[in-house]
Amino acid sequence: MSVSDELRETYTNMITEVSDLTKGPESFEKHVTELVENLIETEVHPGIEEWKDRRFFPGFRAKTAEFCYNDWHPRKGDVVVASFLKTGTHWVREIVRQLFYQHDATLIKETKKIGFFYAYLETGPPCKYEIMDSLPFPRRIFGTHMPAELLNVKKYIEKGVKIIYVYRNPKDQLVSFYHFMRSMQFGEPEKWEKVFPATWNEFFDACTAGEQPVGLKQGESYVDHIMSWYKHYDNDGVHFVKYEDLKKDPHGHISRIADFVDVTASKDDVTAVVTNTSFKNMKEKAEKGETAAQAGEKLLTIFRKGGQIGGWKNQFTVAQSEKVDKMFEKLKDTKISFDY
Ligand code: A3P
Repeated sequence: MSVSDELRETYTNMITEVSDLTKGPESFEKHVTELVENLIETEVHPGIEEWKDRRFFPGFRAKTAEFCYNDWHPRKGDVVVASFLKTGTHWVREIVRQLFYQHDATLIKETKKIGFFYAYLETGPPCKYEIMDSLPFPRRIFGTHMPAELLNVKKYIEKGVKIIYVYRNPKDQLVSFYHFMRSMQFGEPEKWEKVFPATWNEFFDACTAGEQPVGLKQGESYVDHIMSWYKHYDNDGVHFVKYEDLKKDPHGHISRIADFVDVTASKDDVTAVVTNTSFKNMKEKAEKGETAAQAGEKLLTIFRKGGQIGGWKNQFTVAQSEKVDKMFEKLKDTKISFDY
């Protein structure tokens, strides 16, 4: 498959919109070609990269994860939204962004240019951090799908980084993931059909058997991601947010997120964030594609149904539902529970 003009243009704009923000004494034009080619290559013709026995999701880079672990220096006040795929990562990142910058017309516009490629710690080549570290943003908001063992959590917490772990009921997550993978366009689709099968039953089996590369070890699945982060549940620098809680009581949970990230938010501020981050508003903005980052979110169909709670009931068989219940019994002695 050749890369469509639309895709190349969107990715090029995504990269340049951000590097342009750093213009001034230092320009990063030298990195732009590398970044664009890397983005095309790893998104359209990805491989499965491995580090510490974990197999990365296609397009996510082991060497970049390793660079973050060992060499990169996050800053006090940065936020990392850690999550498993399709559990509300974009939503929570946007909530934090609105909390940080809703009263600053310039920053709210400029920070929206940070799309998934810059935001996820483990995407792109490490040179993107030269750009990220030069941006005129007081606080940055990153995402990651890595399990806690791959993040060097101690370094981040010691630096004063705030980590939010967002989780969602695994049945809706799995349906969301299935549909997301249907919309992914890989350069060699036949290579990926075995790993991410096109039919629901096969996809379910591959996923629950831990055969898919999702940042975990062979044989592991979403429950192991939660267990990995749960080791940090009592850490003051880590805040757990349940997707369904956010959906049911956005005011309450966004206020708690504001406290956690040290933002003083009035009742009106929180209400504005609730409105600005509603599924409808976020989807509309992605559809309009005002920034290339938003156009990229549209291409990746990040905003699908808006997290209907219980949508899985139209997809799962009884046996599949019971299988997931059984797998998640691993969490029975934890404070994690799900709303189905
Ligand atoms: P569905 O596919 O069930 O609709 P992630 O950002 O981790 O990839 O998660 C994507 C899921 O979060 C999708 O779920 C998407 O629709 C949902 N989502 C994105 N923005 C949302 C919002 N503002 N409110 C509720 N759900 C949202």
